[in-house]
Amino acid sequence: MMRKAAIIMALFLGVWACTEADDAACEEQVAEGKEGIQVIDGVERSELALTMRLMYDQMKLVADSLESGKEISTNYLEKFRSIHTDHATEPQKIDEVYQAMAASFLLKYEAFETSVNDRPQAFNAMLDACLACHQQKCPGPIKAINKLKLK
Ligand code: HEC
Repeated sequence: MMRKAAIIMALFLGVWACTEADDAACEEQVAEGKEGIQVIDGVERSELALTMRLMYDQMKLVADSLESGKEISTNYLEKFRSIHTDHATEPQKIDEVYQAMAASFLLKYEAFETSVNDRPQAFNAMLDACLACHQQKCPGPIKAINKLKLK
């Protein structure tokens, strides 16, 4: 219960920005009227940030289900593919390295969705692919992503 409240607070306060400088980057983009920015709870969010938040929320539910030994079926692959094309808060971060890590993440994600045996291991391997990209491109959420890992 407390943990859920903390996550909701984190979302509300937007503490998941990659770095503090991101806020300034967001403001600039809105001022320029760039496409792909939405305002939620008074905080500007890029398409990519919205997809990422959705991925995080869904993976949190998946982690909770796997932890309690529940059967789950997921079908998010097609939705998550948009990480290749979504507009980002800092478009300069979307380079070849990003695209390569996005492709590697989607492969790991697909491997998890189609996994039958040892789903927790496939789940953790998929999270490692989230982390690989975050280490290079967006360190802010690393702690939160690590917390999704299953023992
Ligand atoms: C290929 C690189 C890459 C992969 C893979 C990736 N992320 Fe991200 N993530 C980013 C970038 C870049 C941003 C910043 C988005 C922006 O502000 O436009 C971000 C932002 C986020 C945010 C903050 C969203 C917000 O509200 O500002 C969360 C949470 C997040 N990612 C979680 C995840 C999770 C969980 C996974 C795996 C299931 C994942 N990410 C996989 C690059 C990646």
